[in-house]
Amino acid sequence: MKKIAILHGPNLDRLGKREPEVYGRATLADLETALRATSAGAAELHFFQSNHEGALIDEIGRLADAGCAGLILNAGALTHTSVALRDAIAGSAIPTVEVHLSNVYKREEFRHHSFLAPVCVGVIAGLGFEGYHAALRFLLTR
Ligand code: DQA
Repeated sequence: MKKIAILHGPNLDRLGKREPEVYGRATLADLETALRATSAGAAELHFFQSNHEGALIDEIGRLADAGCAGLILNAGALTHTSVALRDAIAGSAIPTVEVHLSNVYKREEFRHHSFLAPVCVGVIAGLGFEGYHAALRFLLTR
């Protein structure tokens, strides 16, 4: 069965409590439940969150070795800072969709640049949880 991973970076463990006016009141656990319903058993979903850049890079390497078929990545602030994470995605050759809950282009200028987008298949920003569902549907049918 196709394996699809959903990775979250720094501070996204605090979803639901963190700046709810920006990110909403639903939690990562709520997202996991909703995405499992969307996949309806069509793929093996793997969820991982870390506040540490190296842990995310290690996980991407493990997923590549395990033959992961697709990656949905909300790297949080690392999106705007991490060349190392970009290299991990490029080196993994896993089709990756960059997702952001908020519309980063409507926010501070430092959020307008992504180091990751050039090595991703696509980017979805500003659609809240719907962005993850769209990314999952795309990766399932790809
Ligand atoms: C975010 C946007 C980032 O700029 C921010 O650092 C986050 C969350 C989003 O989902 O909207 O942590 O990735």
